[in-house]
Amino acid sequence: MSNSSQPRDTAGSTASRELLRLDGVGIRFGGLKAVDSLSFAVDAAQVVGLIGPNGAGKTTAFNLITGVYRPTEGHVRFAGQDITGWAPHRIARAGIFRTFQTIRLFQGQSVLNNVLAGMHLRTRQQWWQGLLATPAQRREEGELRRTVLQLLEKLRLDKLAHEDVASLPYGVQRRVELARALVAGPRLLILDEPAAGLNDQESTELNRTILEVRDQGISVLLVEHDMNVVMNVTDHIVCINFGRKIAEGTPEHIRNHPDVIEAYLGKDDDDDEEAAA
Ligand SMILES: Nc1ncnc2c1ncn2[C@@H]1O[C@H](COP(=O)(O)OP(=O)(O)O)[C@@H](O)[C@H]1O
Ligand SMILES: [Mg+2]
Repeated sequence: MSNSSQPRDTAGSTASRELLRLDGVGIRFGGLKAVDSLSFAVDAAQVVGLIGPNGAGKTTAFNLITGVYRPTEGHVRFAGQDITGWAPHRIARAGIFRTFQTIRLFQGQSVLNNVLAGMHLRTRQQWWQGLLATPAQRREEGELRRTVLQLLEKLRLDKLAHEDVASLPYGVQRRVELARALVAGPRLLILDEPAAGLNDQESTELNRTILEVRDQGISVLLVEHDMNVVMNVTDHIVCINFGRKIAEGTPEHIRNHPDVIEAYLGKDDDDDEEAAA
């Protein structure tokens, strides 16, 4: 990788740097424990990967952190607060933003408008107040646009600001989503399979962006099957299977962990093709 940033050794991290902690978190869907007594932490400015075969509970874990589901056991702590059971918008306001496994952009709208939509999450204004804008509100709007344009420049999207997102390649649309989450000012960014569908060049570009995000002091928690991303940008990896943590450590530790190898390769059925890819 050409970027000078390298994943950090997390051995020296202390509890005071801890931003997110899951403590015995679980949820049951009928008879199935989709996530079971899951505990791990994400430190400030750290990139943590959550990996595991298809159906392991990764997206469910994200839904538990972001308030889509309420845990039936355990606690989620973020920036010194117990956020267990908080509504999604309240968790977002506390500083956790996410992208989804499938792209969710306003097709037919420009890059700029899509990213501005994320900006409104951090202002006091409701979108409809723009229709009756006071001078102060219009000033705020002008500042918002400037901030968004600066961010687009950082993400190498500035030349595309006025393009309709629908006309852009998939990999670029992914970066627009990232911009929309970043512009809301997250302390923790949660990415669900950000490299899915990207070609090699786009996934390398994504690596660079993730490391740049981390270097701004933002923590990143990501689910990813693309090992080019997982092994090159994460500082720490948590591997789950059947909702439970089976291993945790540096990328090197995880790469050689027998239980991880077995979880990915040792199954007889063929529903783990995607996970092994
Ligand atoms: N809302 C739901 N209701 C019932 N079962 C669910 C629900 N969401 C996920 N599951 C089940 O929980 C398990 C974990 O799913 P998921 O978190 O999507 O896995 P992953 O993201 O690791 O592929 C799967 O067996 C899935 O079928
Ligand atoms: Mg998933």
